[in-house]
Amino acid sequence: MTTTKTSPTSRTTTRAFRCSAALAAGGLLITACSSSADTDSGQPGAPSFEGRGPITYVAGKDTTGSVQPMIDRWNKQHPKEKVTFIQLPTDPDAQRRQMIQNAETKSDAYTVLSLDVVWTSEFAAHQWIDRLPQERFPLRKMLKPVVETAKYRGGLYAVPGSSDGGMLYYRSDLLKKAGVSQPPVTWAELKAACAKVKRLPEAEDMSCYAGQFQKYEGLTVNFAEAVNSAGGTVTDAKGTPDVDTPEARKGLDFLVGSAKDGTIPAEGVTYQEEDGRQAFQAGKLVFLRNWPYMYGLAANSGIKGKFAVAPLPGLNGPGASSLGGHNMALSSFAKNKATALDFIKFFTSEENTATQLKEASAAPPYASQYDDKALTAQYPYLPVLKESILRAVPRPRVVQYGDVTAAVQQHAYAALTGDKSSAQALKDLQAALQKSVAQ
Ligand code: GLC
Repeated sequence: MTTTKTSPTSRTTTRAFRCSAALAAGGLLITACSSSADTDSGQPGAPSFEGRGPITYVAGKDTTGSVQPMIDRWNKQHPKEKVTFIQLPTDPDAQRRQMIQNAETKSDAYTVLSLDVVWTSEFAAHQWIDRLPQERFPLRKMLKPVVETAKYRGGLYAVPGSSDGGMLYYRSDLLKKAGVSQPPVTWAELKAACAKVKRLPEAEDMSCYAGQFQKYEGLTVNFAEAVNSAGGTVTDAKGTPDVDTPEARKGLDFLVGSAKDGTIPAEGVTYQEEDGRQAFQAGKLVFLRNWPYMYGLAANSGIKGKFAVAPLPGLNGPGASSLGGHNMALSSFAKNKATALDFIKFFTSEENTATQLKEASAAPPYASQYDDKALTAQYPYLPVLKESILRAVPRPRVVQYGDVTAAVQQHAYAALTGDKSSAQALKDLQAALQKSVAQ
């Protein structure tokens, strides 16, 4: 059967195929996909960023309640260029799917997209987002690894709005009472500290540790952190899958062993960020791996003054976080792009990111804000966070990130829930990642 018309979806698929073919030759790290937007502003082929008027800002659910007030500040100053906030689900995988659906139908419903740092390559390669004029943003003042997450083939496709680094939240009150003077640096120390805490009558029923172990992007983050914190990698420096190693096995074994011996409670495999935060705030957990956003919320909860944060622990010493965060991108199919560019500038400005830090403990992209005296007085963890971000390991920077993260989630979850051994899970994951590359 032949068709004369090409649907938007099949056109996208054709473009995606061209990218993949180039990828197969170049390894997992993206090096080549054809794009008509390969030029900076002012050069032929660059998007024109014209039009002023109402736009939308699309992001995951605002769990801190700080986004709408920020948009209200903009709307007050720009009554003819109002921004409407479209909130997507909290689950990043669901956000990604909705944004892709919107792009595949070339809908103009979404203007500015809050992209998870791991989606830049995919969205840029498919030309779902515009290449942005680098010179219009103060990128030099931002942390370098953070800016890198917004780039694809050397071009800027988004602007960092917030960064993210994993940290270990712990019950400082209980550790102290149990005679543990320092937060744990290794996983063995974490288990030993928890055993001491649990001898306290008030901690008897508490669980030791949780992270994000539900089958979604958070599991990819926590799996990669465990592997990296034991000296392993998911992909090597060239981007080639290299996860079937003794080091990666030690990392995964920490998670699997902790699920088996009850260090991670049974319900831990159902937790996303918010579930863990609520359990920690309800006094159910001694340790929790989470992002900085929860600091502000916990500091205003029942455990105010009873917790602190430390770097993530690892196998033989401090661990390594996965690099997280969100970048502001401009949908290729949107209207009023001049307004959109101004809104991205406003959103990612030093002033606004400082406000987001103060109000929502969001990790800023700007280096100087981590050393600011007033900010560190309010958030004493900022130096820990800066270290976490600078030492953080990026997740694979690939066009086919959806396939990569689905494979990690599938095999890591199977190991965590006892459906297969760590050794088998890593073997299967390695094969799945290699297949993604060869597609
Ligand atoms: C946070 C991070 C993001 C990560 C997600 C996982 O939102 O900023 O990078 O993918 O958590 O749940």
